[in-house]
Parts: sequence; structure tokens; C-alpha cells
Amino acid sequence: MAQDDNGGKDVIPQTGSSAVEHALEESPGTAVIVQDSVADPGFPPHRQRVTDKDPKAAKQAERTVYTLFYLSIVGSVFAIAAYMAFPIEDGDPGAIRLNNLFIGLGIALALLAIGIGAVHWGKALMADHEGIDLRHPVKGTDETRARAVEIFQEANEESGFGRRTLIRNSLVGALIAFPLPAVVLFRGLAPQNENPVELLSQTMWKKGLRLTLDPTGTPIKAADVTLGSAFQVIPEGLAEMESGRLEAKAKAAVLLMRLKPEDLHELPDRKSWSYDGIVAYSKICTHVGCPVALYEQQTHHLLCPCHQSQFDVANHAKVIFGPAARPLPQLPIAVDDEGYLIAQSDFTEPVGPSFWERP
Ligand code: FES
Repeated sequence: MAQDDNGGKDVIPQTGSSAVEHALEESPGTAVIVQDSVADPGFPPHRQRVTDKDPKAAKQAERTVYTLFYLSIVGSVFAIAAYMAFPIEDGDPGAIRLNNLFIGLGIALALLAIGIGAVHWGKALMADHEGIDLRHPVKGTDETRARAVEIFQEANEESGFGRRTLIRNSLVGALIAFPLPAVVLFRGLAPQNENPVELLSQTMWKKGLRLTLDPTGTPIKAADVTLGSAFQVIPEGLAEMESGRLEAKAKAAVLLMRLKPEDLHELPDRKSWSYDGIVAYSKICTHVGCPVALYEQQTHHLLCPCHQSQFDVANHAKVIFGPAARPLPQLPIAVDDEGYLIAQSDFTEPVGPSFWERP
């Protein structure tokens, strides 16, 4: 026997794996076996709820739950009614505020009532016992699946989903009614009392309207458009519009460029649409409507930054690359007596994504 400096314990020399195991058990600070783990406290004793003991209280809870679900239906209907009763008037912030306020209140009530009703149903009426579900392979055996069906039926029985018809029906009604305001709100995306096809086919441009700089609205003289330059253009009067300015601009925005007349390869029926090498094309990409804003002066190419469609300005803005399906619409232009650039007419085809022109 020998003594070490470790509290005077006896050390017995050992060899091989038994020595290693001994060292693991004895070495302080490197212990891998926890000897004093906390005992599983188990579940606290089950306490019955008032709704378990008193049928009157259960009935009252049932009433509360279906009242909440009916309240949710009222909220959804209220949101739809508010949408009709408080329409958004163009340029009237007060009308927008009222519309948002009441629609929001209706939807909030609908959602809140479903949520509170479902929680109350679960806490007060559904079975109140602890369940343990052991892990098992993803696809169970036939017995397991049969048991799953049994559990489902038990859950149905215990939650009273099949039995408490008022709760079930009111919940189904609330869930059906809840998405309706969203469907109705989509109506607001369509133009009011106007034919959308016509609206999208026409822009502000008309015969004699001056081309002006975006955003100042300053008229542009043909002499100011130097060779190789490109201008962002809006119709005269758009900058001063009080309402609907953005909608009008989204259709009427134009790019104006000047090329050497000999570089322009115009279509035979469009020879009179340009002025001394100056051409105007819609700025709205014919793919999905992004603004085509990048002009490459040397190649005369216009690039749409969204999906890289490229249009060749020297060749009636035909598509030379990318997903756009048709050329940019051309605005026929001329000059008035004072030398200002004017439109000869509106665009002769719809601007923007090409699906608008499809029948
Ligand atoms: S919107 Fe212009 S390329 Fe897609």
C-alpha cells in the first residue's frame, strides 16, 4: 500500500481498460456519470375545473363560446358593410381614414372573437387530462393507424365537436365568413364604374399636347434635345393634376431620344411619327410594366432593369433581348409653331404589359 497526496487515499495500481474506467469514476471535474440527477417530479395532482363538476357552468361556457363565434361573423359582416358604407373618395384623406378604421375594426373583431372562442372552448370544455404520445416511426403499423382513428374519434367525443352542434356550426360559420372581407376588398382594386379595358387602352396624350419634362412640367423645345440625349417626359398638365396624377403618369410616361436621322430605321407607316431624329416611346415595359429607364447612347438600346429586356430605339423599339413580347409603343410627335414638341395623338396601341391587348 502506498499513500498519495490526495487526502491520504490508497492507490491501487491498475493496467488496461479497467484502469481507465477507474480513473473516469474517481477523477474530480471530469466525471461523465451524473450521480445526483433530479428525480422526475411527475405530473401535479389533477384538479377538476368548474365546468367538469357543474353542468350549469359547462352550459354557460358553451354559450360563451358560440356567442364569440357568432360575434366573429358579425365582425366579418361589419367589415363588408363598412367597405360599402365608407368608400374611398379620390384625394379625400378623411374618407380613407374612415374606410380603414371601420374595415380594420370589423376584421379585428372577427379574428379576435374566433381566437378567444377557440381558446375558451379548449380551456373550459375540452377534455382536461394529460396525455403522453410516444414517438414512433413516421408510417405506423395498421394497428397504430387504427388507434389513430380511435384517438380521433375520442377527441371528437371529448371535445364535443360532433355533439355540441351550436358551437360546431357557429365555428364553421365564423371560419367561412372570416375570409369574405378580403374577397370584397379586392373589388377596390378595380376601377369604379368604368370599363377597365378602355381605361388601360387610353392615356392622357392627345393631339397638340406638349411634351414636358418630368417632374417639373417644363415644355420641351425640339432645339433643346441634343443628339444622343434622352429625356424623361410627361404630358403637359400632368404635373399640376391634384388627383389621379400617379395613375395618369403610370400610363403616359414617355422617353424622348434624339438620334441621327440616318440611324433611324422607321417603319413605312411611321415615317411621320418622329421629328428630325427625335423619337418618343412609352417608358412602360411591355413585359410586366417596369419603367424602362436605362438608355445606352452608343447602341441606341433601352434596357429594362427588372428582367433585362432590351429594346432597339433605332429600329422602332423592337425587342432584341429578354422576356418582353412586343416593342415599346411609339408616341407620334411633331412641333408646334413655337418650336415645342407636341403629340400628334394618343398612343395607337395599349401601353404596358402585352396581355392587355389580348381579347
Ligand atoms: S418588366 Fe421589363 S423586362 Fe420585365
